[in-house]
Amino acid sequence: MDRLIVKGGARLKGTVQVKGAKNSVLPIMAATLLGEGQSVIQGSPDVRDVHTLLKVLDALGVRGGRDADGTVRLEVQDAGPTLAHYDLVRQMRASICVLGPLLARRHRARVSLPGGCVIGVRPIDLHRKGLKALGAPTTIEDGYVVGDAPRLHGASVFLGGPFGSTVLGTANTMMAATLADGVTIIEGAACEPEVADLAAFLNKMGARVEGAGSPLVRIRGVERLRGATHRVIPDRIEAATFMVAAAMTRGDVTVEGVCTEHLGAVIDILRSAGAEVTTSDSACRVVGPEKLAPVDVTTLPYPGVPTDVQAQLMAMLCLADGISVVTEKIYPDRFMHVAELQRMGADLRKEGPAVIVNGGAKLSGATVMASDLRAGACLVLAGLVAKGETRVRRIYHLDRGYERIEERLNALGAEITRDDDGEEARDKPKDGEE
Ligand code: EPU
Repeated sequence: MDRLIVKGGARLKGTVQVKGAKNSVLPIMAATLLGEGQSVIQGSPDVRDVHTLLKVLDALGVRGGRDADGTVRLEVQDAGPTLAHYDLVRQMRASICVLGPLLARRHRARVSLPGGCVIGVRPIDLHRKGLKALGAPTTIEDGYVVGDAPRLHGASVFLGGPFGSTVLGTANTMMAATLADGVTIIEGAACEPEVADLAAFLNKMGARVEGAGSPLVRIRGVERLRGATHRVIPDRIEAATFMVAAAMTRGDVTVEGVCTEHLGAVIDILRSAGAEVTTSDSACRVVGPEKLAPVDVTTLPYPGVPTDVQAQLMAMLCLADGISVVTEKIYPDRFMHVAELQRMGADLRKEGPAVIVNGGAKLSGATVMASDLRAGACLVLAGLVAKGETRVRRIYHLDRGYERIEERLNALGAEITRDDDGEEARDKPKDGEE
């Protein structure tokens, strides 16, 4: 199994291009189930989740692939299959986003339940609520969510939950509503830019979606959708990861190809921590301070601080001169990185859904384990500033969402190598990865 060996001490300098957003391209790929003819999706990152979804879609009769330049071409060639098997869904919980399109276009679906994972429980009650409102009630049978929906109709539905709205639940409901009879109103919709990007793609397919990116989305159903060409938005989480790395290493890094307006909360935290951030519409330059200041961070739905950057920010705050409180409001259990950071010498105390970071402790290299994608990024960043060598194991998590991160950090001056730690047989997860 691959691991990364990170040598600490480098100050990152230079320019890095951000890739297309993983969390945009996945639901957009699923949306191709709704249309006739080929779709061309440009700017997809070369990450494992994209390849996993290609397999899920292939099993559903959607044929195509990803070119080396990041273009994904997909076309429905067999509209018969309706099963998304556990063996594939367990590898990537985002596979659930085929549920809405299957019910809308094939009127039947049997999709494995994603189950929980290291970042906490991953319920789909709000997905089911949205689809039920449209006339597609589902049941749970043998670990699968199963639905039959001869005809979908427009409806009003509120999708807010105890932790805010749901990104993929909004995506599923929105996709299903594009082919329903009449008008659907989603209130309490997720406002993440990836939802707006999906709506932009659906509209290019011929859908009539208004208001995506706001809490109120209105969809007028149409008879049919056709394939479309679309370039996905830049990955704001990847961009934020590089920006935090620059701030931590007293670096000077320009992240190019971003959509700066998606990064407001992260830029605000970095500036509060003492980094100098200068921006244009499509680039952010981050110059790290000699000494970082502590900052309290609370993750929230967009436009708040993304939960997907919480772990990376915690690594940064370990270096700050004083106490920071990191509170997780989306996934209250998303703290598996805490124990690993402690192994590197961080002074952290977990109190319910918050972690008190007593900054300033010197981090030192250790062998640590990536438990999920963002925890993996956090540990690589911690390794960049730790004394000595940090060996980050189970980086298949990292490869799910970051394209060749070590090569791109090395181009900025980091010293990271990848090798096989020879532990495959003992450590290979039996069932389910994050
Ligand atoms: N929730 C419910 N009921 C539901 C669905 C969600 O209570 O039916 C809760 C969740 O438990 C959580 C909150 O609502 O507390 C938000 O979950 P959401 O449904 O928005 O998460 P998701 O759509 O499954 C996407 C991203 C995640 C990201 C979250 C939150 C994709 C493919 N995944 O997941 O990304 O953390 O939104 O922003 O878009 C990652 O990239 O590392 C990642 C985990």
